[in-house]
Amino acid sequence: MENKVTKIGVLTSGGDAPGMNAAIRAVVRTGIYNGMEVFGIMRGYSGMIENDIVPMHSRSVANIIQRGGTILKTARCKEFFEHEGRKKAYNNLKKLGINGLVIIGGDGSFRGAHKLSEEFDIPCIGLPGTIDKDIAGTDFTIGFDTAVNTAVEAIDKIRDTADAHDRLFIIEVMGRDAGYIALHSGIATGAENILIPERKTDIEELVNGLLEKERRKKLVNIIVVAEGDRGAEDVAQVIKERVPAADTRVCVLGHIQRGGAPSCMDRLIASRMGYSAVESLIEGRHNVMIGIVNNKMHYTPLEKAVKAKQKISEDWLKIVKILAS
Ligand code: ADP
Ligand code: F6P
Repeated sequence: MENKVTKIGVLTSGGDAPGMNAAIRAVVRTGIYNGMEVFGIMRGYSGMIENDIVPMHSRSVANIIQRGGTILKTARCKEFFEHEGRKKAYNNLKKLGINGLVIIGGDGSFRGAHKLSEEFDIPCIGLPGTIDKDIAGTDFTIGFDTAVNTAVEAIDKIRDTADAHDRLFIIEVMGRDAGYIALHSGIATGAENILIPERKTDIEELVNGLLEKERRKKLVNIIVVAEGDRGAEDVAQVIKERVPAADTRVCVLGHIQRGGAPSCMDRLIASRMGYSAVESLIEGRHNVMIGIVNNKMHYTPLEKAVKAKQKISEDWLKIVKILAS
């Protein structure tokens, strides 16, 4: 098949995630290997609208595979929600002759890409880059593994001090609408309770469980709460009132989970996905999100990728309950 995509643009959009740089590197180098011109679009859709677009060379992406953040920077761009904003963006791409895009971001960024491709017929490939792992069509998203390992390291440290003082800690991890970081880090650190937005928290059950543990003299408790559930402070308030004997502390891990050197796994999936994005554009597989399912590349149409959320299986929740007893 004739290779119609000759000039590609790559951008990172929405919340940053460790491994985005590895993905940019893979896109740039695979594009150049295939004789394409590659452009970096700065600050997500903002740079597309403001024409902040720079040529990328093989050396532009040297020494970045191990770095967190994104060399292209990222942003949330209100103007892109409007047709006029997207038109302005498309005209800038057209002037440079860019005829293919790789968007590294979350479902919001894919929503924007889907609209752009529908309105202006420009092929778009999405790479799932978010620490939240809340996108269907892939087993892992770029950044999740690093974020969850950061959370595990922090929770292990908190357990040391919790144990020394016989304290109860409520630890808030990231995840606006998704409990994956809480679930994985909570199981991996042996948390007694894990609160996630996908399942309504039964506060009575939580309080009764703590009272029962108190009777058994089980004094150290780690409760991991996803920020999208009800927030650690809120949970602490209830526990302080209902279980006053517990020496309760709160720790919000926050943006520490978004930074740092990407794990080996995140570097690998980012490299594979970046390579596959360019191959897809060459093969004419347009407007898809590249995922990895059962260790194989998996392609989900962008319009589906923006609708479906990854579901948390009941088995995981059962494991939490049994192992924490
Ligand atoms: P993420 O990609 O991490 O989910 P956001 O939801 O903040 O992050 O989306 C990133 C950007 O994608 C937004 O700031 C906006 O520019 C663009 N975007 C999101 N949703 C839409 C939409 N429905 N239409 C057009 N652009 C969108
Ligand atoms: O989507 C990733 C994420 O880190 C969420 O878990 C969190 O709620 C949100 O981004 C915070 O975004 P920001 O601080 O950039 O507004």
